[in-house]
Amino acid sequence: AQFWLRGDHPEQPVKFDPATGLWNVYGYPEAHQILSDPKTFSSDTQRLLPEKVAKNFEAFSEGNLVNMDPPEHGHLRKLVSHAFTPKVVADLEPRIAELAGELLDGVGDRMEMVTDLAYPLPVIVIAELLGVPASDRGLFREWVDAMLNNNVQFTLTDTDEMEKQTAVAVEQVGKLTEYLREHAAERRRKPREDLLTKLVEAEVEGSRLSENQVVNFANVLLIAGHITTTALLGNTVLCLDTNPEQYAKVRADRSLVPAAIEESLRYFSPFALVSRATTEEVELGGQTVPADQLMMLWLAAANRDPRQFTDPDTYDVTRPANPQIAFGRGIHFCLGAPLARLEGRVALNLLLDRFPHLRSDPDDGPTFVPSPSMTAVRRLPLLLT
Ligand code: HEM
Repeated sequence: AQFWLRGDHPEQPVKFDPATGLWNVYGYPEAHQILSDPKTFSSDTQRLLPEKVAKNFEAFSEGNLVNMDPPEHGHLRKLVSHAFTPKVVADLEPRIAELAGELLDGVGDRMEMVTDLAYPLPVIVIAELLGVPASDRGLFREWVDAMLNNNVQFTLTDTDEMEKQTAVAVEQVGKLTEYLREHAAERRRKPREDLLTKLVEAEVEGSRLSENQVVNFANVLLIAGHITTTALLGNTVLCLDTNPEQYAKVRADRSLVPAAIEESLRYFSPFALVSRATTEEVELGGQTVPADQLMMLWLAAANRDPRQFTDPDTYDVTRPANPQIAFGRGIHFCLGAPLARLEGRVALNLLLDRFPHLRSDPDDGPTFVPSPSMTAVRRLPLLLT
């Protein structure tokens, strides 16, 4: 049960859970404090995991931007940040619109939102940017789905269980890593105009990235570049379908499309959870958190904090301000945010253009990804006429 979907807001924004040995953070100001202070709240959380669990992740940590701290984080992020600036991303709009159009050409009077549009669109876009064949997307989906289906419960107390579960996830991500390793080796022999070649050729402080760094960095881009955006596209259609008044407003006034995307990010935050490790004792939400604690920061809950958002459990595309933090904030702020927003805008506009009567199938309701760290529609059958 995911409480942020039920809308009961915990009394305490910061809570230690003795059953798991983890600190849960649910509040918006507290999330803000954590994300703004990478020195006290380090992204290198693996050092606090039980050794046998950390061992499972070892192979993926080198070059993994998400788990790095300054200054290494900044060096690596700089290598690809130019590929995701709002200007560069804006130039991708015609290609994204073309792809979305082609995908929708293939549907009849009904479609399944995730399989027909929300999955293929972002995965093709990120595969083309990286330079790996988009036609292999069936493979990516198989591996990544197996990872998402594997409902990892984070705990520092039942280490056997966590080891078992992370081992499955790691095995699946490992397949993607090996796939990318072959492509990276190919780029070393034969450079091309793509992000993978850029990573292979990049230099940080005078030396090339290691093979593991290239592969893990590409892996983060490939995975982060699509699962969350797939979730955003599916969640947005579900939010509009279940809030007919809001749906009518957006249909009548397309200038509300970007606001609908922002509100969907707030209401169903795809990347529900990020984690941090305290490096020293710190005051947070009226509590003293010791050094070396693992903090589970529920972005999805912070985005429903009544101290920050009026009527947080109401989906409202006309909120006067919406400082949602579904993309995080600070130095790790999502690199792909401009791309995800663009894909969301293009896809929603095109759906509304082509299928003004689109609605969910009353006889075949949506299902969700079981992983607690994701808020994501897995399957959403739609009637189009
Ligand atoms: C980081 C969410 C789409 C690439 C993040 C973080 C969040 C996030 C919350 C911060 C993690 C942290 O602070 O620990 C999302 C959501 C998306 C989305 C909700 C879609 C709706 C994308 C796309 C790409 C991407 C399309 C790639 C092209 C990344 C990368 C990072 C990141 C590389 C790591 C940045 C860093 O550590 O400096 N994302 N993301 N994301 N995201 Fe996204």
